[in-house]
Amino acid sequence: MSDEWVKIAAPATSANIGAGFDIFGIAFEGPCDIIEGRKTESGIRIVEVNGPGAESIPLDPDKNSVSIAAKEVLRRCNADFGIDIKITKGIRPCSGMGSSGASASGGAYLAHVLTGEKLSMNDLIICAAMAEGVTSGGFHADNVAPCLMGGFTIIRSNQPLDVMSVRPPERLGIVAALPDVLVPTKDARAVLPKEVALKDMVFHIGHASSLVYGMMSGDIDLIGRSIADAVIEPARAKLVPHIKEAEEAAKANGAISSCIGGSGPCILSLFDKDKTDGKAIAEAVRKVYSDSGMKCDTWITNCGLGCRRI
Ligand code: HSE
Repeated sequence: MSDEWVKIAAPATSANIGAGFDIFGIAFEGPCDIIEGRKTESGIRIVEVNGPGAESIPLDPDKNSVSIAAKEVLRRCNADFGIDIKITKGIRPCSGMGSSGASASGGAYLAHVLTGEKLSMNDLIICAAMAEGVTSGGFHADNVAPCLMGGFTIIRSNQPLDVMSVRPPERLGIVAALPDVLVPTKDARAVLPKEVALKDMVFHIGHASSLVYGMMSGDIDLIGRSIADAVIEPARAKLVPHIKEAEEAAKANGAISSCIGGSGPCILSLFDKDKTDGKAIAEAVRKVYSDSGMKCDTWITNCGLGCRRI
Protein backbone atom coordinates (compact mmCIF):
# COMPACT_ATOMS: atom_id res chain seq x y z
CA MET A 1 0.00 0.00 0.00
CA SER A 2 1.30 3.46 -0.90
CA ASP A 3 -0.03 6.89 0.06
CA GLU A 4 1.31 8.44 -3.12
CA TRP A 5 -1.36 9.11 -5.76
CA VAL A 6 0.00 9.14 -9.31
CA LYS A 7 -1.98 11.46 -11.58
CA ILE A 8 -2.34 11.01 -15.35
CA ALA A 9 -3.91 13.40 -17.90
CA ALA A 10 -5.46 11.48 -20.81
CA PRO A 11 -6.55 13.83 -23.60
CA ALA A 12 -9.57 13.95 -25.86
CA THR A 13 -8.99 12.72 -29.38
CA SER A 14 -10.81 12.74 -32.68
CA ALA A 15 -10.91 9.63 -34.81
CA ASN A 16 -11.64 9.17 -38.51
CA ILE A 17 -10.66 12.70 -39.78
CA GLY A 18 -12.23 12.87 -43.23
CA ALA A 19 -11.45 9.81 -45.32
CA GLY A 20 -9.56 7.88 -42.60
CA PHE A 21 -12.43 5.90 -41.04
CA ASP A 22 -11.03 3.64 -38.26
CA ILE A 23 -7.51 4.60 -39.41
CA PHE A 24 -6.73 8.26 -38.61
CA GLY A 25 -6.83 9.92 -35.21
CA ILE A 26 -5.55 13.14 -33.68
CA ALA A 27 -4.73 13.99 -30.05
CA PHE A 28 -5.97 17.26 -28.55
CA GLU A 29 -4.06 19.14 -25.84
CA GLY A 30 -7.33 19.22 -23.90
CA PRO A 31 -9.87 18.59 -22.46
CA CYS A 32 -8.48 15.61 -20.54
CA ASP A 33 -9.72 12.85 -18.27
CA ILE A 34 -7.69 12.81 -15.06
CA ILE A 35 -6.91 9.31 -13.82
CA GLU A 36 -5.31 8.93 -10.38
CA GLY A 37 -4.04 5.75 -8.80
CA ARG A 38 -2.12 4.41 -5.84
CA LYS A 39 -0.66 1.00 -5.23
CA THR A 40 -2.50 -1.40 -2.90
CA GLU A 41 -1.77 -4.96 -1.71
CA SER A 42 -3.99 -6.52 -4.37
CA GLY A 43 -7.06 -6.06 -6.59
CA ILE A 44 -8.27 -3.08 -8.58
CA ARG A 45 -10.93 -0.78 -7.13
CA ILE A 46 -12.64 2.29 -8.56
CA VAL A 47 -12.95 4.47 -5.47
CA GLU A 48 -14.32 7.68 -7.01
CA VAL A 49 -15.74 8.95 -10.32
CA ASN A 50 -16.45 12.65 -10.91
CA GLY A 51 -17.02 15.03 -13.82
CA PRO A 52 -19.39 15.22 -16.79
CA GLY A 53 -21.23 11.94 -17.37
CA ALA A 54 -19.79 10.37 -14.19
CA GLU A 55 -23.21 8.91 -13.30
CA SER A 56 -23.00 6.61 -16.35
CA ILE A 57 -19.49 5.28 -15.56
CA PRO A 58 -19.56 1.83 -13.95
CA LEU A 59 -17.78 1.34 -10.62
CA ASP A 60 -17.47 -2.40 -11.25
CA PRO A 61 -13.78 -2.87 -12.21
CA ASP A 62 -14.73 -5.59 -14.71
CA LYS A 63 -16.95 -3.13 -16.61
CA ASN A 64 -14.89 0.05 -16.39
CA SER A 65 -12.42 0.78 -19.21
CA VAL A 66 -9.86 2.42 -16.87
CA SER A 67 -9.59 -0.63 -14.62
CA ILE A 68 -9.80 -3.19 -17.44
CA ALA A 69 -6.87 -1.51 -19.21
CA ALA A 70 -4.89 -1.13 -15.95
CA LYS A 71 -5.50 -4.78 -15.05
CA GLU A 72 -4.21 -5.93 -18.45
CA VAL A 73 -1.01 -3.90 -18.00
CA LEU A 74 -0.50 -5.36 -14.49
CA ARG A 75 -1.06 -8.88 -15.89
CA ARG A 76 1.44 -8.41 -18.69
CA CYS A 77 4.03 -7.06 -16.21
CA ASN A 78 3.41 -9.85 -13.63
CA ALA A 79 2.82 -7.07 -11.07
CA ASP A 80 2.35 -8.19 -7.45
CA PHE A 81 0.18 -5.27 -6.35
CA GLY A 82 -3.27 -3.80 -6.93
CA ILE A 83 -4.46 -0.23 -7.61
CA ASP A 84 -7.07 2.11 -6.15
CA ILE A 85 -8.32 4.41 -8.92
CA LYS A 86 -10.01 7.83 -8.97
CA ILE A 87 -11.48 9.09 -12.26
CA THR A 88 -12.32 12.70 -13.09
CA LYS A 89 -14.02 12.81 -16.47
CA GLY A 90 -13.16 15.84 -18.60
CA ILE A 91 -14.79 14.34 -21.67
CA ARG A 92 -18.38 13.17 -21.40
CA PRO A 93 -19.32 9.79 -22.89
CA CYS A 94 -21.01 9.54 -26.35
CA SER A 95 -19.33 12.74 -27.55
CA GLY A 96 -17.15 11.59 -30.46
CA MET A 97 -14.19 13.05 -28.55
CA GLY A 98 -12.70 9.74 -27.48
CA SER A 99 -14.19 9.64 -23.98
CA SER A 100 -13.89 5.89 -23.43
CA GLY A 101 -10.57 5.88 -25.31
CA ALA A 102 -9.18 8.51 -22.92
CA SER A 103 -10.30 6.50 -19.90
CA ALA A 104 -8.84 3.26 -21.28
CA SER A 105 -5.59 4.98 -22.26
CA GLY A 106 -5.34 6.76 -18.91
CA GLY A 107 -5.84 3.46 -17.08
CA ALA A 108 -3.19 1.71 -19.18
CA TYR A 109 -0.75 4.61 -18.78
CA LEU A 110 -1.34 4.81 -15.01
CA ALA A 111 -0.55 1.11 -14.57
CA HIS A 112 2.44 1.54 -16.92
CA VAL A 113 3.89 4.26 -14.68
CA LEU A 114 3.18 2.26 -11.49
CA THR A 115 4.91 -0.85 -12.94
CA GLY A 116 8.05 1.06 -13.95
CA GLU A 117 7.25 1.63 -17.66
CA LYS A 118 8.17 -1.85 -18.89
CA LEU A 119 5.76 -2.20 -21.82
CA SER A 120 6.28 -1.00 -25.38
CA MET A 121 3.97 1.67 -26.84
CA ASN A 122 2.41 -1.01 -29.07
CA ASP A 123 1.58 -3.18 -26.04
CA LEU A 124 0.09 -0.21 -24.18
CA ILE A 125 -2.13 0.61 -27.16
CA ILE A 126 -3.28 -3.03 -27.32
CA CYS A 127 -4.15 -3.03 -23.56
CA ALA A 128 -6.13 0.21 -23.96
CA ALA A 129 -7.86 -0.83 -27.21
CA MET A 130 -8.85 -4.15 -25.64
CA ALA A 131 -10.42 -2.33 -22.70
CA GLU A 132 -12.23 0.11 -24.97
CA GLY A 133 -13.46 -2.84 -27.01
CA VAL A 134 -15.01 -4.44 -23.90
CA THR A 135 -16.90 -1.30 -22.92
CA SER A 136 -17.83 0.18 -26.31
CA GLY A 137 -17.96 -2.91 -28.53
CA GLY A 138 -15.35 -3.86 -31.14
CA PHE A 139 -11.58 -3.41 -31.20
CA HIS A 140 -10.59 -0.11 -32.81
CA ALA A 141 -7.44 1.70 -31.77
CA ASP A 142 -8.08 5.00 -33.58
CA ASN A 143 -8.79 6.88 -30.31
CA VAL A 144 -6.38 5.12 -27.94
CA ALA A 145 -3.45 5.36 -30.38
CA PRO A 146 -3.45 9.20 -30.54
CA CYS A 147 -4.37 9.40 -26.84
CA LEU A 148 -1.23 7.43 -25.91
CA MET A 149 1.18 8.49 -28.68
CA GLY A 150 0.04 12.06 -29.32
CA GLY A 151 0.04 13.71 -32.74
CA PHE A 152 -1.79 12.52 -35.84
CA THR A 153 -1.90 8.73 -35.95
CA ILE A 154 -2.30 6.23 -38.74
CA ILE A 155 -3.25 2.61 -38.14
CA ARG A 156 -2.00 0.41 -40.97
CA SER A 157 -3.30 -2.75 -39.29
CA ASN A 158 -5.09 -3.71 -36.07
CA GLN A 159 -3.89 -7.31 -36.08
CA PRO A 160 -0.97 -7.28 -35.81
CA LEU A 161 -1.09 -3.72 -34.53
CA ASP A 162 0.97 -1.42 -36.74
CA VAL A 163 0.49 2.24 -35.90
CA MET A 164 2.52 5.38 -36.48
CA SER A 165 2.33 8.97 -35.27
CA VAL A 166 3.17 12.09 -37.25
CA ARG A 167 3.62 15.52 -35.64
CA PRO A 168 1.23 17.90 -37.45
CA PRO A 169 2.40 21.43 -38.26
CA GLU A 170 2.57 23.73 -35.20
CA ARG A 171 0.30 26.20 -37.04
CA LEU A 172 -2.60 23.73 -36.99
CA GLY A 173 -5.29 24.74 -34.50
CA ILE A 174 -8.33 22.70 -33.47
CA VAL A 175 -11.88 23.69 -32.55
CA ALA A 176 -14.02 20.93 -31.07
CA ALA A 177 -17.72 21.74 -30.74
CA LEU A 178 -20.01 19.43 -28.81
CA PRO A 179 -23.78 19.89 -29.25
CA ASP A 180 -25.93 18.62 -26.43
CA VAL A 181 -26.95 15.31 -27.97
CA LEU A 182 -25.66 11.80 -27.20
CA VAL A 183 -24.47 9.55 -30.03
CA PRO A 184 -23.33 6.11 -28.80
CA THR A 185 -20.60 4.71 -31.09
CA LYS A 186 -22.52 1.47 -31.59
CA ASP A 187 -25.54 3.42 -32.93
CA ALA A 188 -23.25 5.42 -35.21
CA ARG A 189 -21.74 2.19 -36.54
CA ALA A 190 -25.15 0.62 -37.08
CA VAL A 191 -26.07 3.20 -39.74
CA LEU A 192 -22.98 2.57 -41.88
CA PRO A 193 -23.19 0.90 -45.29
CA LYS A 194 -21.80 -2.63 -45.54
CA GLU A 195 -20.36 -2.05 -49.01
CA VAL A 196 -18.59 0.84 -50.69
CA ALA A 197 -18.66 1.82 -54.38
CA LEU A 198 -15.37 1.69 -56.27
CA LYS A 199 -15.53 5.44 -57.05
CA ASP A 200 -15.87 6.18 -53.30
CA MET A 201 -12.92 3.93 -52.54
CA VAL A 202 -10.81 5.84 -55.07
CA PHE A 203 -11.98 9.17 -53.58
CA HIS A 204 -11.04 8.01 -50.06
CA ILE A 205 -7.61 6.68 -51.00
CA GLY A 206 -6.79 9.97 -52.75
CA HIS A 207 -7.93 12.14 -49.84
CA ALA A 208 -6.42 9.91 -47.14
CA SER A 209 -3.05 9.80 -48.91
CA SER A 210 -2.91 13.56 -49.43
CA LEU A 211 -3.92 14.19 -45.80
CA VAL A 212 -0.92 12.17 -44.62
CA TYR A 213 1.30 14.11 -47.06
CA GLY A 214 -0.14 17.40 -45.78
CA MET A 215 0.47 16.45 -42.13
CA MET A 216 4.05 15.31 -42.84
CA SER A 217 5.01 18.25 -45.05
CA GLY A 218 3.19 20.88 -42.95
CA ASP A 219 1.04 21.98 -45.88
CA ILE A 220 -2.00 23.49 -44.13
CA ASP A 221 -3.95 24.18 -47.33
CA LEU A 222 -3.48 20.60 -48.47
CA ILE A 223 -4.69 19.37 -45.05
CA GLY A 224 -7.83 21.48 -45.57
CA ARG A 225 -8.42 20.15 -49.10
CA SER A 226 -7.84 16.56 -48.01
CA ILE A 227 -10.47 16.32 -45.27
CA ALA A 228 -13.51 14.93 -47.07
CA ASP A 229 -15.62 11.82 -46.63
CA ALA A 230 -17.87 10.29 -49.29
CA VAL A 231 -19.09 7.35 -47.21
CA ILE A 232 -19.15 7.59 -43.42
CA GLU A 233 -20.22 11.19 -42.76
CA PRO A 234 -23.11 11.15 -45.27
CA ALA A 235 -24.47 8.04 -43.52
CA ARG A 236 -24.08 9.55 -40.04
CA ALA A 237 -25.24 13.09 -40.82
CA LYS A 238 -28.78 12.31 -39.65
CA LEU A 239 -27.43 11.57 -36.13
CA VAL A 240 -25.89 15.03 -35.74
CA PRO A 241 -28.48 17.83 -35.89
CA HIS A 242 -27.50 20.87 -37.99
CA ILE A 243 -24.21 19.29 -39.06
CA LYS A 244 -24.14 20.93 -42.49
CA GLU A 245 -24.97 24.40 -41.14
CA ALA A 246 -22.35 23.97 -38.40
CA GLU A 247 -19.66 22.96 -40.91
CA GLU A 248 -20.56 25.81 -43.25
CA ALA A 249 -20.49 28.29 -40.35
CA ALA A 250 -17.04 27.02 -39.31
CA LYS A 251 -15.68 27.35 -42.85
CA ALA A 252 -17.19 30.82 -43.30
CA ASN A 253 -15.34 31.88 -40.14
CA GLY A 254 -11.86 30.63 -40.94
CA ALA A 255 -11.82 26.83 -40.65
CA ILE A 256 -9.69 25.10 -43.31
CA SER A 257 -11.99 22.12 -42.94
CA SER A 258 -14.72 20.69 -40.73
CA CYS A 259 -16.03 17.16 -40.21
CA ILE A 260 -17.81 14.96 -37.71
CA GLY A 261 -15.31 14.18 -34.94
CA GLY A 262 -15.13 10.46 -34.19
CA SER A 263 -18.57 8.93 -34.40
CA GLY A 264 -20.18 12.28 -33.49
CA PRO A 265 -21.80 14.48 -32.40
CA CYS A 266 -18.52 16.42 -32.01
CA ILE A 267 -17.83 18.77 -34.89
CA LEU A 268 -14.11 19.00 -35.51
CA SER A 269 -12.77 22.10 -37.28
CA LEU A 270 -9.13 22.72 -38.12
CA PHE A 271 -7.63 26.16 -38.66
CA ASP A 272 -4.39 27.93 -39.51
CA LYS A 273 -3.14 29.72 -36.38
CA ASP A 274 -1.27 32.22 -38.58
CA LYS A 275 -4.65 33.38 -39.92
CA THR A 276 -7.11 33.10 -37.01
CA ASP A 277 -7.23 32.27 -33.32
CA GLY A 278 -10.26 29.98 -33.75
CA LYS A 279 -12.61 32.08 -31.58
CA ALA A 280 -14.85 33.12 -34.52
CA ILE A 281 -15.14 29.45 -35.59
CA ALA A 282 -16.12 28.30 -32.10
CA GLU A 283 -18.62 31.15 -31.73
CA ALA A 284 -20.18 30.57 -35.17
CA VAL A 285 -20.74 26.85 -34.52
CA ARG A 286 -22.09 27.53 -31.03
CA LYS A 287 -24.53 30.06 -32.53
CA VAL A 288 -25.90 27.53 -35.04
CA TYR A 289 -27.03 25.47 -32.03
CA SER A 290 -28.11 28.30 -29.72
CA ASP A 291 -30.31 29.64 -32.56
CA SER A 292 -32.11 26.28 -32.38
CA GLY A 293 -32.30 26.32 -28.60
CA MET A 294 -29.52 23.76 -28.18
CA LYS A 295 -26.48 24.01 -25.90
CA CYS A 296 -23.09 23.49 -27.56
CA ASP A 297 -19.77 23.43 -25.66
CA THR A 298 -16.64 24.43 -27.55
CA TRP A 299 -12.90 23.98 -27.00
CA ILE A 300 -10.12 25.78 -28.88
CA THR A 301 -7.01 23.67 -28.62
CA ASN A 302 -3.86 22.35 -30.32
CA CYS A 303 -2.65 18.97 -31.37
CA GLY A 304 -1.32 17.35 -28.18
CA LEU A 305 1.45 14.99 -27.12
CA GLY A 306 -0.78 12.30 -25.60
CA CYS A 307 -1.06 10.88 -22.08
CA ARG A 308 1.25 12.36 -19.51
CA ARG A 309 1.92 12.33 -15.78
CA ILE A 310 0.95 15.59 -14.10
N1 HSE B 1 -13.66 5.10 -35.74
C1 HSE B 1 -14.73 4.72 -34.87
C2 HSE B 1 -16.05 5.14 -35.49
C3 HSE B 1 -14.52 5.23 -33.49
O1 HSE B 1 -16.11 6.15 -36.18
O2 HSE B 1 -17.02 4.42 -35.28
C4 HSE B 1 -14.94 6.61 -33.23
O3 HSE B 1 -14.59 7.08 -31.96
